[in-house]
Amino acid sequence: MLLAVSLLALVSVTLAVPVAPGEDQQVTMLPTSLAAPKVEVGWTDPRILGGQFIDFTTPRYGEPLNVIISNLSDPFILTEEGFPQYYKSIGFSEECLGLHYGHVHKADLGDGDGRKSEHILARQHYFPRWGTCWESLVGGNHFRAWKQNGTDANTSAWFLGVSKEKDSTKNHMIVPNGYNIGRDLLVESAIAGSRWNGMSWIADLEWREGLLEPGYKGINHAIAQDGRVAILTVHRV
Ligand SMILES: *[C@@H]1O[C@H](CO)[C@@H](O)[C@H](O)[C@H]1NC(C)=O
Ligand SMILES: *[C@@H]1O[C@H](CO)[C@@H](O)[C@H](O)[C@H]1NC(C)=O
Ligand SMILES: *[C@@H]1O[C@H](CO)[C@@H](O)[C@H](O)[C@H]1NC(C)=O
Repeated sequence: MLLAVSLLALVSVTLAVPVAPGEDQQVTMLPTSLAAPKVEVGWTDPRILGGQFIDFTTPRYGEPLNVIISNLSDPFILTEEGFPQYYKSIGFSEECLGLHYGHVHKADLGDGDGRKSEHILARQHYFPRWGTCWESLVGGNHFRAWKQNGTDANTSAWFLGVSKEKDSTKNHMIVPNGYNIGRDLLVESAIAGSRWNGMSWIADLEWREGLLEPGYKGINHAIAQDGRVAILTVHRV
């Protein structure tokens, strides 16, 4: 039953239709309100080598990369094996039954890899008995993640695009204010502290402005976001 409904959702998935494109709306444009890139601790500003804090959902529109997990975090969660353990501890899990919803987004983290496909798509699971499949039916929080591990900036930091969606009958559309809401929900769980498989973590949080322009310019679905990026350093405790 779940599988059947999930398949339906898969077939009816949206292809991220850009909203009201205007000629002045280019995701690659560098707005003057942004701070100049500088040397960061624990990650590298993607803009230094031509990357940006908006992913490429379509060639011209994308979703904000609104959370960074710095490489000063527990080294285990920076690995491909360890990160799923961590995001399960804060209530996320991989795709339901291995089905992939929506198309793959690309991001340019300025690490020399150019636009690379997301490494992870994880969704919030509200109810352990149902797990991710439950979320896939009712909608909820989710993120895509890319690792900054190209040869030009091999920092191992994770860059996340977090957003909250409507339920799957609405074709996984982002809710109004869904980029800010999704990010804040994830951040709240991370700073509250979490446990999984006998491991515990708690995150330090730094808010950054000036990396991502506030507003909806270049943002998929034209849903405005506040331009704040959460830098998390996740400590094993
Ligand atoms: C962490 O990121 C910094 C860039 O801020 C980089 O210089 C450093 O080598 C990275 N550390 C690891 C372990 O990759
Ligand atoms: C970069 O990290 C991703 C995610 O862990 C991994 O799939 C990929 O193989 C890594 N790339 C390199 C060159 O190590
Ligand atoms: C990045 O650094 C790791 C060690 O931290 C290494 O295993 C990997 O090969 C490096 N990747 C690239 C693309 O240089």
